[in-house]
Amino acid sequence: MQVTMTVNGVEYTREIEGRMLLVHFLRDVLGLTGTHWGCDTSNCGVCVVWMDGEPVKSCTVLAAMAGGREVRTVEGLANGAELDPIQEGFRQCHGLQCGFCTPGMLMTCRALLDKNPDPTEGEIREAISGQICRCTGYSSIIRSVRWTAVHEAKAKEEVAQA
Ligand code: FES
Ligand code: FES
Repeated sequence: MQVTMTVNGVEYTREIEGRMLLVHFLRDVLGLTGTHWGCDTSNCGVCVVWMDGEPVKSCTVLAAMAGGREVRTVEGLANGAELDPIQEGFRQCHGLQCGFCTPGMLMTCRALLDKNPDPTEGEIREAISGQICRCTGYSSIIRSVRWTAVHEAKAKEEVAQA
């Protein structure tokens, strides 16, 4: 079957098998290997991407179901050479060690901050509760999200005063 979807602003049409999962379409067909594949049982969250602006676990979505939709992956976060503030937050606060969970964490945390620009620690923990980090123990991830929230608020204030 043929599927057409927009990924990070670019439209792709490809021939696929109907049973192909979105995570495999992104990684193996489009070569967007920033989205990771960890468990295949909807437990680890490393495969999170956005579909029409909502985070989804791409190992639970058929590529065919993304037909006609807008998909955003971790490759679509930065604006050219400029990191998204959530990427900068992870960089500043050591929100990653091995980096395996990081693409999914970034997509989930970006979605959280877009909905709730000033999340509490509890709200951050709840937002990432569907995702497993094998390395950091989560506190540096939470610090990274808080760093981003504070810096985005400051940047907005500066724009308003300019
Ligand atoms: S690979 Fe999708 S949740 Fe683990
Ligand atoms: S940084 Fe290693 S799994 Fe999260």
